[in-house]
Amino acid sequence: MGNRLDKKVAIVTGGATGIGEAICKKFAQEGARVVVVGLPDDPVDQVVKEIEQQGGIAVAFKGDISVEANAKACVDLAIRMYDRLNILINNAGVFPETNLLPDFSEEAFDYLLRNNIKSTFMMTKAALPELQKTRGNVVTAGSEAGQMGEPQAVPYGGTKGFNHAFAKGLATEQAKFGVRSNVVAPGPIDTAWTHTSTGPMDSEMEKSTTAGTLMGRRGTPEEVANVYLFVASDEASYVTGAIYYVDGGTTIAKGPQGEKAADSFKKEPEGELDLQHSLEGHTSVKS
Ligand SMILES: NC(=O)c1ccc[n+]([C@@H]2O[C@H](COP(=O)([O-])OP(=O)(O)OC[C@H]3O[C@@H](n4cnc5c(N)ncnc54)[C@H](O)[C@@H]3O)[C@@H](O)[C@H]2O)c1
Repeated sequence: MGNRLDKKVAIVTGGATGIGEAICKKFAQEGARVVVVGLPDDPVDQVVKEIEQQGGIAVAFKGDISVEANAKACVDLAIRMYDRLNILINNAGVFPETNLLPDFSEEAFDYLLRNNIKSTFMMTKAALPELQKTRGNVVTAGSEAGQMGEPQAVPYGGTKGFNHAFAKGLATEQAKFGVRSNVVAPGPIDTAWTHTSTGPMDSEMEKSTTAGTLMGRRGTPEEVANVYLFVASDEASYVTGAIYYVDGGTTIAKGPQGEKAADSFKKEPEGELDLQHSLEGHTSVKS
């Protein structure tokens, strides 16, 4: 057990699986009291039990936190159990469908808005009054897709772009209250989402996603949790409005990303482009 989050109280949304589970366990190992948040069917109790077996402190909250009453009840639970709130981790999210945009379903679009955007809004709104009391901080899950866009999951990338801008606006607005706000933006991570057998990626997308990293592999949830730990801790007391990419170099991997695009997306449209420029710019220095 470490002490980098000694006596801090943290809410981790989407805390029962994947990256969120790793965050909950890492935070508890570092001395935090953790509210593990998940949907009613998520293995929230199991994560709490495993944390307690390791000597950590945690409590379960089950509910859809895109619903305001649930978001408030979640914050109330943290206060009732542990008297304060220092850290909100907005990690909950969904990745329901991969399809080219004309075929992307409205149902999946709405599901993305609710679970990736509204959940972040509702939890942050509910938590801020408590975070202001402790001069706490918020860390929100972005994505390399929030910066670069995500072919075959265009609306997903859009929701993550929202989270990036949301977190930066929050940093600017809340600095005067002593509250920090940052983003951790993963690339492909070894969770259910990035495997054909357990998520919506087809095998070509699964392969190209991994090939699109400089490191040629998925990251582990623990590698992402390590960065959450730093950003959420007092070690990062001068860090706000920042985006930390944990993507094995995907964002800067122009080469592999470009090859991927060339293979499957860069096809000239048929017909002629009707471009009518009436004004030409200058391409040399005027004397
Ligand atoms: N896995 C990746 O490759 C990857 C890459 C970039 C970003 N991310 C981000 O990391 C986060 C976690 O992803 P993951 O791969 O661990 O996925 P995951 O599905 O294992 O975890 C997400 C959890 O959030 C929960 N959740 C979703 N909506 C909720 C709601 N409204 N209320 C309560 N709980 C809710 C889900 O039930 C799930 O347990 C997401 O925000 C995702 O966008 C993941």
